[in-house]
Amino acid sequence: MTAEPPYLPLSEPSLQGRELEYVTDCITTGWVSSGGAFVTRLEEWATEYFGAGGAVAVSSGTAALHTALLLAGVGHGDEVVVPTLTFIAPANAVRYAGASPVFIDAEPEYWQLHPARLEEFLVKRCRRERAGVVDLETGRVVKAVLPVNVLGHPCDMDSIVAVAHAAGLVVIEDATESLGSRYKGRPAGLLGDYGCVSFNGNKIATAGGGGLVVTRDSQAAERARYLTTQAKDDPLEYVHREVGFNYRLTNVQAAIGLAQVERLDELVAGRRWVAEQYREAFADVPGVEFMPEAPWARSNRWLSAIRVRPVGGGDSRSLLRVLAEHRVEARPLWQPLHRSPAHGGTTDGGDWIADRLNREVLCLPSSPSLTDEDIGRVAGLVSAFARERGRIRPT
Ligand SMILES: Cc1ncc(COP(=O)(O)O)c(C=O)c1O
Repeated sequence: MTAEPPYLPLSEPSLQGRELEYVTDCITTGWVSSGGAFVTRLEEWATEYFGAGGAVAVSSGTAALHTALLLAGVGHGDEVVVPTLTFIAPANAVRYAGASPVFIDAEPEYWQLHPARLEEFLVKRCRRERAGVVDLETGRVVKAVLPVNVLGHPCDMDSIVAVAHAAGLVVIEDATESLGSRYKGRPAGLLGDYGCVSFNGNKIATAGGGGLVVTRDSQAAERARYLTTQAKDDPLEYVHREVGFNYRLTNVQAAIGLAQVERLDELVAGRRWVAEQYREAFADVPGVEFMPEAPWARSNRWLSAIRVRPVGGGDSRSLLRVLAEHRVEARPLWQPLHRSPAHGGTTDGGDWIADRLNREVLCLPSSPSLTDEDIGRVAGLVSAFARERGRIRPT
């Protein structure tokens, strides 16, 4: 009997820096909870890395998004523009703030928020009124735009920021997937007014869980700290003038997170190496395109993805099944949010680019620990599938 090949997960953390040393420090000093030297050092690292006015460590990327929306003044009855092609967290965070997401399609080249569609929405489907930019269909005031750097690839932020600022809107960049990516040489993450980072276990740098809110303005950072620590006005007498949140990051998590970001360049180089191997392997495979990178972008390649054009009876979902049978974890992109039942999704047959990308794109194992042999195994399965499928009859 031949041994089963090793299981290849989508994304594994690489914990080979000073994680253990820093966590041991937390335990020996007793600083295991919220507050502590590692929280401060992680915030200082982020402030410098993004050239920010301040950064506040929080318990998750979702908490970071919620906090940034509150800082942007988003509240009950407002609307926030969100790409339809993203993990659901940003749309959920908009709901936590009492507002509604309005979904904009992806552009076909790099799969990010479509700047022209955003402009079309703000110019043709909204009107400037005394209250602000009003969505003509819903009557709600649009307060912010929340672009997401999907799969780590930066959006065309200059275009998005220009369109949003021209309409007087705040830009919150969801950089939860794109830590370490660059846009025109600048770090992706604080190209708008606020930025949000995630240290979830599957991200390029992890703290087990956690996130950061990054702002240009040091006063906004202070307000973020206030809101995320239960909005204490008088910590001795427990006086609170506002409803705050317990969104603090613990020192133990920050210890892991700091050890990770100290190796950010190496973690990015590892994922980019994986992406490059796939890109070369799929260059001549018919009907399979590796996720392109814009000339102005240097993606962290958090997840390597391929677009599988349907040929004969073989589409991305049949490839998904083949990979699963061979112990390779692959994933389609998320259900586009304009279809999500959680957000009152439509079943209309409209021709959304995001729907096509959802049907055709698969993310492949992308961990920096993958070997030549692992990548060869995945690429071999994809290439064999692509060659064979022309002969499968459509069902
Ligand atoms: C685009 C996007 N936004 C937000 C989040 C939320 O981050 P977290 O899991 O840290 O709450 C994630 C990932 O989980 C994400 O992929």
